[in-house]
Amino acid sequence: MFGRDKLDLDKFHANCNGRFNTKFILCSRMCLRPLLIVCWFCQTMSLCPTDCHCGLDARGRRQVICAKEDFFFAFGECFFCQFKLQDNTDLMFKVLKITAPMDNENSLTIGPIFHEFQKLTELQITYSNVPAIGKHSFWGVPSLKHLNLTNNNISQVLEYNFRGLVNLLELHLDYNRIESMGSGTFHHLPELRTLTLSHNRLKHLSPRLFLMLGKLRTLDLSFNDLEHLDPDVFKDVQDLRTFSCRSCALRKMNPHIYSLLSSLTHLDIGDNEFKYLDSHEFRDLRKLQVLHMDGNHFPVILEKTFSSQGRLRVLNLARNRIAKVTTHAFANLTSLVELDLSYNKLDKLEPTSVLPMAETLRSINIDSNNIDIAEFKYVLQIINKLKELSIAELGYTTQDIPLGLLAQLDSIKYLNMSGNELVHLPVQFLSPVPKLAEIDVSRNKFHGLDERLVVRLEKVKVRLDDNPWACDLCHITPMLSRVNESTWVKDAVCTLPYNLKGRRFETLTVSMLGWCGTGLGYREEGFAGLALTHNAQLGLIAAGAAVVLLVITIAAVVAGLLYNRHHAAYYYTNEERRLAEREKMYVEPEKKVSIATIDEITKDPELQVLAS
Ligand SMILES: *[C@@H]1O[C@H](CO)[C@@H](O)[C@H](O)[C@H]1NC(C)=O
Ligand SMILES: *[C@@H]1O[C@H](CO)[C@@H](O)[C@H](O)[C@H]1NC(C)=O
Ligand SMILES: *[C@@H]1O[C@H](CO)[C@@H](O)[C@H](O)[C@H]1NC(C)=O
Ligand SMILES: *[C@@H]1O[C@H](CO)[C@@H](O)[C@H](O)[C@H]1NC(C)=O
Ligand SMILES: *[C@@H]1O[C@H](CO)[C@@H](O)[C@H](O)[C@H]1NC(C)=O
Repeated sequence: MFGRDKLDLDKFHANCNGRFNTKFILCSRMCLRPLLIVCWFCQTMSLCPTDCHCGLDARGRRQVICAKEDFFFAFGECFFCQFKLQDNTDLMFKVLKITAPMDNENSLTIGPIFHEFQKLTELQITYSNVPAIGKHSFWGVPSLKHLNLTNNNISQVLEYNFRGLVNLLELHLDYNRIESMGSGTFHHLPELRTLTLSHNRLKHLSPRLFLMLGKLRTLDLSFNDLEHLDPDVFKDVQDLRTFSCRSCALRKMNPHIYSLLSSLTHLDIGDNEFKYLDSHEFRDLRKLQVLHMDGNHFPVILEKTFSSQGRLRVLNLARNRIAKVTTHAFANLTSLVELDLSYNKLDKLEPTSVLPMAETLRSINIDSNNIDIAEFKYVLQIINKLKELSIAELGYTTQDIPLGLLAQLDSIKYLNMSGNELVHLPVQFLSPVPKLAEIDVSRNKFHGLDERLVVRLEKVKVRLDDNPWACDLCHITPMLSRVNESTWVKDAVCTLPYNLKGRRFETLTVSMLGWCGTGLGYREEGFAGLALTHNAQLGLIAAGAAVVLLVITIAAVVAGLLYNRHHAAYYYTNEERRLAEREKMYVEPEKKVSIATIDEITKDPELQVLAS
C-alpha cells in the first residue's frame, strides 16, 4: 500500500535537496504523475501552507484547514503545502484538517508521518480517497483525541492501524468501503468514547469486535446491510448511551441486546424492516430519552409498549403502517416532549392515549394520516401546552377545520398546515395563538390572503409557496400593499391569470393587476371559503334581527312615552322594579356568551383584539 509513497519519499529528498529542510508528510497520487514531488510540509517556508487556512478554532486551538476548490492545481500541477514553524523543534498546531470539494476529491495516502506533530489533537482527512490507514500511521502521536477519516476509500480496517492512539476519544470512519473487521480491531483504543462506522459495506460484525471498548458511549453502525445483530458483539460495550443502526436491514432485535445495553439513552433503529413491536420490547431500556423507530412496518402500538420509558422525551414513529394506537399505548410516557406519528394510517387518536403526556408534550406531528380534525380537537385540548403542531398533508379543506381548533393552545409557535386544501384562513383562527412565529401554508389552494390575515402575519415567518395565487385586484392587493412589512410575500409566484403566470410578487405592482379574474379563465372557486360565507349568512340574519328589534323597540318606546305621559304619577313608585327588570333583559344575552362554543368565542371581536 505504501510502497509507492516510500519511493516518492526518496525522490522527494532528492528534489528538495539543499533547498528546504523538509519533512515528508502527505503525498498526493495526482502529484506523482508529472513525477514532481511537491507535496510536503516544509519547515522553513511561510507561516501557513499556501491554499490552507491557518488560525484558531472555536476553542482557541491552532488549526490548519486545507480545503479549496482548486486544491491540487493552485500551484501549477500540484497540491503544495508549506509550513513555517514557530520554532524548529515541533509543529505546534493542534488541529489539522485536509478536505476537498465533493466533486473534486483529493487523492492522498497516509503513512507514519504524524509523529512530527507533537501537539496534534484533532486530525481530519476527508474527501481524499485515502485507501487505507497504514500500519504505524499514528505511532507516536499520543496527543491525538479526534480522528476523522470519513468520506474516503478505506476498505479494510485492521487492528494495527490504531496502534499508539492510547488517548483517542473519537474515531469517525463513516462513508468508506469497509467490508469487514476482525475481532478486537479497536483494542488499541482503550479510551474511545465515540465510534462511527455508518455508510460502509459491513455485512456482519465479528464476535468481540469491540473488545476493550468498555468506555464506548456512542456507536453508529447505520447504513450497513447488517440484517442481524448478534448480542455477543455488544458484551464489550455495555456502557453504551447512544446506539444507531438506522437502515441496517434489521428485521428483528434480539431482546438480549436490550438487556445488555440497558444504559442506553438514545436509540435509533429507524428505516429498518421491523414488522412487529412487542409490548415488552423496551422493558429493559429504562433510561431511554430518545427513540427513533420511523420508517419501519409497525401496524399497531400495543397497550403499555412504553411503560418503562418514564424518561422518554422524543418518540418518533413516523412512516410506519400504524393504523391503531391503543388506548393505553403511551401509558407512563410522562416526560414525553416530542411525538411524531406522521405518515401512518391512523384514522383516529384517542384523547385518553395522550393523557400521560398532557403536561410535557410540546410538539406533535400527525401529517399524512386519515385523522378527522374535528375529533383531533379533543386531543389538542388535553395536550394544550404544545408549541409545535403539524397537521400537513391531511387533505383538510377550510370547512373541515374547526375555527376554534387552537382555542386553548396559546403556546403555539409553529404551525404546519401545508399540503391541505385550504382556500381561506379566517384571521380568527389564529386569535388564540399570539406567540405564533412560524406558519407553513404552502401547497394549499389559496388564491389570495385577505388584509387582516396579512397584517396578523406581519411578524410571522410564513411559507406560502405552491398555492394558485391569482394575481388580480381582488385577491392579492392586500398582500402587495404590505409587501415591505411582510417580506414573505415577495417570494410568492403568480399562477393566474395566464399573462402573469410565473411572476414573483416582488416584481409586481398594483398597476399591473387586472380585474378580478373575470374572463381570465378561472372561477372564484370558493375563495371566501365556507367559514366566511357562514359568517356572512349569520351576519345577514343578525342584521335582519337587529332591524326588527329596532323597529319594535322604537314602537315600544314611543308607546311607552305616550303611556307614561298619561300615567306618570301612577307608575312613579314602581320605577325601581321596572329598572331591575330591564337590566335582567340586558344581562341575559351576555350570559349566553359565557356558555357559547369555542367557535363563537373566537369570533368575538373583543377577544380578537385581546389576542392580537
Ligand atoms: C468529519 O468530517 C466530515 C467531512 O469534512 C464532517 O462533515 C464531519 O462533521 C466531521 N465529523 C466530526 C465529528 O467532526
Ligand atoms: C477505491 O478503491 C477501490 C478498490 O478498493 C478502487 O477500485 C477504486 O478505484 C478506488 N476509488 C477511487 C476513487 O480511488
Ligand atoms: C407505570 O405507571 C403506573 C401508574 O401510573 C405505575 O404503577 C407503574 O409502576 C409504572 N410502570 C413502570 C414500569 O414504571
Ligand atoms: C411542513 O410539513 C411538510 C410535510 O410533512 C414538510 O415537508 C415541510 O417541510 C414542513 N414545513 C416546515 C416549515 O417545516
Ligand atoms: C416598498 O419599498 C420599496 C423600496 O423601499 C418602494 O419602492 C415600494 O414602493 C414599497 N412598496 C410599498 C407597497 O410600500
